[in-house]
Amino acid sequence: MKEKKKVVLAKRIGQIKPSPTLAIDTKCKALAVQGVDIVNFGIGEPDFDTPDNIRQAAISAIQEGFTRYTAVGGIPDLKEAIIQKFKQDNNLDYRPEEIVVSCGGKHSLYNLFQVLFERGDEVIVPAPYWVSYPPMLLLAEAVPVIVATPEDNGFKLTPERLRECLTPRTKGLILNSPSNPTGSVYTREELEALAEVILEHHLFVISDDIYEKILFDGQEFVSLAQLDPELKARTFVLNGVSKTYAMTGWRIGYMAGLETVIKAVTKIQSQSTSNPNSIAQKAAVEALRGPQDSVAAMVQEFAWRRDDILSRLAWFWGR
Ligand SMILES: Cc1ncc(COP(=O)(O)O)c(C=O)c1O
Repeated sequence: MKEKKKVVLAKRIGQIKPSPTLAIDTKCKALAVQGVDIVNFGIGEPDFDTPDNIRQAAISAIQEGFTRYTAVGGIPDLKEAIIQKFKQDNNLDYRPEEIVVSCGGKHSLYNLFQVLFERGDEVIVPAPYWVSYPPMLLLAEAVPVIVATPEDNGFKLTPERLRECLTPRTKGLILNSPSNPTGSVYTREELEALAEVILEHHLFVISDDIYEKILFDGQEFVSLAQLDPELKARTFVLNGVSKTYAMTGWRIGYMAGLETVIKAVTKIQSQSTSNPNSIAQKAAVEALRGPQDSVAAMVQEFAWRRDDILSRLAWFWGR
């Protein structure tokens, strides 16, 4: 019998592990199929259905035959809707050339890391962090510099802490507010304090704003890019429809930033996935332009659940 040749995988894949949150999710789903009553906290996924107006937009797109390749970085209509969203919600002005639409926010980030970082570039990742940042950085041969943040500061990075971690190789900083997993939200003042260090050291910032709308107790959302034009030029703003519109499976995310970088991100996309799904893009246009009341209703329900869990835990601890 012929001896089987051992498959040798590329070294880069050995550096990373499968996403632990997706692994937990798979396990939860398997247990649920077996009839186990399980509450799945593994994955950041609203348990709501995508609102009906958005689903109808997708059905119309199919019926109208909107089923071909589209522009790699997103259809003009969707880019316009994103530009309007940035203007309306964040008072940020972007041109279509400064926007890219990808197959989920994760995809935008992956492509950004590939074009922005190279071997040995250090990128600061405040901990606790979303599990995918370090592996995606490692795949770009960058060095994730994990920086613990103090619990008594709401797990938020301070300018002092940021300064301590800087080296001549530091090229980027990831900020995720509201944060997955801690839920902390940076105030305008806290961002302004960080901005000083960011500008002084010419850092690029990845502002992961994907949970922008999931806010409680009247908190205000501020994106770093809003603070001043110089900062905007160094910030890549990541957002998407997954969390806000319960559209995790549709895979539409987007990013805004410096035109040269966005162009490079689009080039990578053109040689890997091509355009994000055409039907999902039409659905995303409706999500951004259509009625927004379902977002408020969902957040209200999340707030109710959070308060309920907190009061039960308080009771438990107080026993
Ligand atoms: C902090 C954070 N950023 C980005 C994403 C990417 O979301 P998506 O790829 O569904 O747009 C997620 C998803 O879990 C996340 O938790």
